Amino acid sequence: MLTWNPQLHNRSLLRLGDFTDEEMLQLVKLAEELKARRRAGVRGDLLYRRHIALIFEKSSTRTRNSASIAVRDEGGDAEFLTKNDIHLGGKESVKDTARVLGRMFDGILFRGFAQSTVEQLARWSGVPVWNGLTDECHPTQILADLMTMQENFGELKGLKLAYIGDGRNNVANSLMLGCAKAGVHYANCTPASLMPDEGLVATARAVAAKNGSTVNVYNDPLEGVKGANVLYTDVWVSMGEEDKKAERLALLRPYQVNERLVDATGNAGGKLIFLHCLPAFHDDQTLASAETGALEVTDEVFEAPFSKVFDEAENRMHTIKALYVSSLADCAAL
Ligand code: CP
Ligand code: NVA
Repeated sequence: MLTWNPQLHNRSLLRLGDFTDEEMLQLVKLAEELKARRRAGVRGDLLYRRHIALIFEKSSTRTRNSASIAVRDEGGDAEFLTKNDIHLGGKESVKDTARVLGRMFDGILFRGFAQSTVEQLARWSGVPVWNGLTDECHPTQILADLMTMQENFGELKGLKLAYIGDGRNNVANSLMLGCAKAGVHYANCTPASLMPDEGLVATARAVAAKNGSTVNVYNDPLEGVKGANVLYTDVWVSMGEEDKKAERLALLRPYQVNERLVDATGNAGGKLIFLHCLPAFHDDQTLASAETGALEVTDEVFEAPFSKVFDEAENRMHTIKALYVSSLADCAAL
C-alpha cells in the first residue's frame, strides 16, 4: 500500500507554500515507499501513458534526469524541451504555449528564470505544473533534502539545519520554509549583504512557531552552526548571476564549509550530516574550481562519511516521482 492523499490529485507545486505541512510530509513518506518499491525491483505502471513535458531554460543534471526517469519507471514518458526547441517566450507567449502543451501533456515540469513563467504555465495549461527551480525557489529540491534527513535521523522535528553561504538564493529560500514546515530549526549563516528577504523570514518564522521550531539569521557562521545536525551549502554564484562571481568569491570565503565549521557544530563524529543540492565546487581537479581551489565546501567534508550528497541526489528522483504519482496516478491502482 502506498500513502495516497486524494487532496493532492491534479495539484501543482509552484512553491512549497502550495502544500500544507502535512501534505508536504506525506509526499516525503510516499517517496520513501516508492524508493523501497524500486529497490525491490518493481517497475510498475502507476503512470502508464502519462506524458510529461520538461521545459528547461537553465542547465540541469539531477532535476532533468530525475524528472525523466521518474515517469518512465512507472510506464509513462517525458519530452525534454529547451528554449531552443520551442517558441516559449520568443515567437509565442507563455500563455499560448501553456494552452497548447496542456492539450497534449498530462503535466509540465519547468526550470527557468522567472517565477512568473511557472505561474503562468500553471494558470493556462490546465494540467499540474511542477517548479524544477526558478530564480526565487527550488521546492522539489527540498522534498529530497527532507527525505535524506528523515533517512538519517528517523524523524525531522527538533533537528537543526544550518545553511551557510548565499543566504537569499532559491535553495536557501525554499529550505527556510521547508524546515519551518517540518519543525526543523533553521539557521541561515550569510553576510549582511546576502540576507534573506524579511517578508520571507517573517512568514517562515510564523510557520516554524506553529511547529515548535525557529528561524534565525546569523552573520557569524561559527555562531550559527552551533548544535547543527545538518550542515547545508550551495554554490556561491547561482545560474543567471555569473557576472557576480568575483564579488561573491571575495564575500563568501569566510563561509566555506570546512573542518573548522564541522567542529563548531559540537556534533562532529555523531549526529551530523552534510548536504548540498549539487553541483558543487569542492576541490575537483577536473573542474574550473581547480583554478580557485575548493569554494563553498572542502573535499575533506564533501568526501567524508557523513556527507550524504549522493543519497540526496538520488532522492530527487524518488520525490519527483512521488509528486507525479500523487498528482496523476489513478488512485484505484494504488
Ligand atoms: N540540485 C539540482 O537541482 O541539480 P541540477 O541543477 O543538476 O538539476
Ligand atoms: N542556487 C543554485 C542551485 C542549483 C541547483 C542555482 O540556482 O544555480
